[in-house]
Amino acid sequence: MRHILRLVPGIALASICLTFCGCDKAGTPSDGSAQSHQTARTTYTIGMSQCNLGEPWRVEMNAQIKAAAEKHPEIKMVFKDAQNDTLKQRSHVEEFVSAGVDLIIISPKEAQPLTEPVARAMEAKIPVIVLDRSLLGDKFTCFIGADNKKIGKAAGEWIAKRLGGKGNVVELKGLMTSTPGHDRSNGFHDGIAGTDIKVVFEADMKWLEPEARKEMESALSRFPRIDCVYAHNDPGAHGAYLAAKAAGREKEMIFVGVDALPHEGVAYVKQGFLDATFQYPTGGAEAIDTALKILKGETVPKQITLGSKVYDKETVEQGGRELP
Ligand code: FRU
Repeated sequence: MRHILRLVPGIALASICLTFCGCDKAGTPSDGSAQSHQTARTTYTIGMSQCNLGEPWRVEMNAQIKAAAEKHPEIKMVFKDAQNDTLKQRSHVEEFVSAGVDLIIISPKEAQPLTEPVARAMEAKIPVIVLDRSLLGDKFTCFIGADNKKIGKAAGEWIAKRLGGKGNVVELKGLMTSTPGHDRSNGFHDGIAGTDIKVVFEADMKWLEPEARKEMESALSRFPRIDCVYAHNDPGAHGAYLAAKAAGREKEMIFVGVDALPHEGVAYVKQGFLDATFQYPTGGAEAIDTALKILKGETVPKQITLGSKVYDKETVEQGGRELP
């Protein structure tokens, strides 16, 4: 008994060591080094909620995030696809919060309904990077995206120049409950201000090629003369081109889109389906760079604005021209 009593302080000391010294159950340091307990955290889980993977641009965004994250073995990515369903995307954010991820990246479908769950993640002290489409207010850590107003304005000016300052335009808008749809439209109207260009038909094609094609069929049946289609993304411009071609009218007008993925919009310009496309970078690599900074405790800007380029017949072979 006396033996046992004499052992107690030793046992207590050993257990304190097990708790605070990073020793494993066998009593050796968990990574084999003497200072394992002093090193910074070595793994971070990042939850990424993508609003859909039905469009090549979003597949590309995820691929860029994955490629950038793979360069950092300390990052573990968990990808979720909301399949273009806002409620599903709200649940993603809630699930990431319950799982206690270290950081959330979200590319939201719509602004208003996703603002609140992101604000709640922030209240739970989980940093959130918002990519491409923005939210309302400022309850997120950082927004990364290109300047959609500037892109819309550049598209308007490009079209005004190309049409000699007058003509009938069909505007096929992106989902108007998402921020880029508004900005690409407002910017475009600024770009054509003071000209004789008229938007004779406008419709919300929700960023989707089949919707754009359907809307363009209505425009074609209503307007005997259309000089230009300005679509808020390249799938929309391509859908409009296919509708015009089916009606035998594709040569009557020019087609302008946004995104400029190499294998989509840029290829369409090279093939002559589109007359111009304005680049909208996905920001995937920048999101991982920024995430690492946040996780390491560095301060990042509230807004990171990415650049853009125009690809038209004159510039496509040289890799486009930067927007000033
Ligand atoms: C893909 C997409 C892109 C567009 C972006 C705007 O879902 O429609 O074509 O540039 O979203 O958020």
